[in-house]
Amino acid sequence: MKTVLSAIQPTGDMHLGNYFGAVKNWVDLQEKYKCYYGVVDYHAMTMPYDVNKLRTNTWDLITNLVAVGVQPENLFIQSLVPEHTELGWILNCFCSYGQLTRMTQFKDKSLQVKEGAKEEFISVGLLDYPVLQTADILIYRADFVPVGKDQEQHLELARDIAQRFNTQVGKEYFVLPEPLYTETPKIRSTADPAKKMSKSAGEKHYINAFADEATIRRQIKSAVTDSGNTTAGTMAEGVQNLFELIKAAGWKTEYDQLMETFTAGSLKYVDLKQITADALVQMIGGFVEKKKEISADKRKLKDQVKQSSSEIRKRAQETLKEVKELVGLMNV
Ligand code: AMP
Ligand code: TRP
Repeated sequence: MKTVLSAIQPTGDMHLGNYFGAVKNWVDLQEKYKCYYGVVDYHAMTMPYDVNKLRTNTWDLITNLVAVGVQPENLFIQSLVPEHTELGWILNCFCSYGQLTRMTQFKDKSLQVKEGAKEEFISVGLLDYPVLQTADILIYRADFVPVGKDQEQHLELARDIAQRFNTQVGKEYFVLPEPLYTETPKIRSTADPAKKMSKSAGEKHYINAFADEATIRRQIKSAVTDSGNTTAGTMAEGVQNLFELIKAAGWKTEYDQLMETFTAGSLKYVDLKQITADALVQMIGGFVEKKKEISADKRKLKDQVKQSSSEIRKRAQETLKEVKELVGLMNV
């Protein structure tokens, strides 16, 4: 059976970009593959963060993931599998400094830090984080990595590092991982369709995957559809995005009907927004219900995920032992 690994940072709310772009795929892949899904708290330290919130955010994200259908036995918390950081260090020595400075996410996030903070502080962790990400993937010898399109460059880096490692140790040891994209690899901000949906751009730029009905309806109602400079016959990005959301939520019939009216030139944006809101309210309503159920027994879920983390850790330990052997480190 092929192996799948993916991970998400516990940095606050989970939004529809995360869900449709990545997590929905996690859920679907569980049937066919051996899956490892990490809540990567070491990664969440790379941007300025509140030490009093990280642990709470981690458990909240675990709850959210289970609420949308991830099986607890496939989940681990990164800091409960510290071998990731040890392999990360080793892989640092198989990655060039120049390659890291070229990562577009590093450039974007450095800018964000500069814009948002009183003091400018860009950590080495932020520069180095794609190497830790590579360790997350390679430590389970993952064949496939379901992610959004924004992670493409990091996946290429992971392949490069794996290749360089294999060449240097003279053995095809690491599997070269392939990304897996969903049908909706890029969900746009409804407030500004030129941007991707993300938390970092601010509250109005993302729809929480556990939002209440009123908020969802308000956000969709105010969604930017067409800024007016779209040429006839083509679809504006904002309109496309609403169509994507309807399809991703599984409302195929409604999607087809609306698409027909678009082709005929008679689509009304109020109708498009109405259907988008209805589809999201129904889907998100289900998530909220499930989260309530799980939250009634928090202890149980915590114990389950501590247990699954320690099971998953065994796999990571095996790899690390072999790697230390291969690179000439001490190995008891
Ligand atoms: P992040 O919250 O940035 O750590 O992202 C977690 C996962 O969600 C990653 O696999 C991203 O590729 C994916 N993701 C984040 N934002 C979007 C978006 N707007 N559209 C599609 N996928 C996304
Ligand atoms: N860097 C990813 C993000 O920002 C999160 C992540 C960390 C990840 N480690 C990973 C994704 C390993 C896939 C595989 O979204």
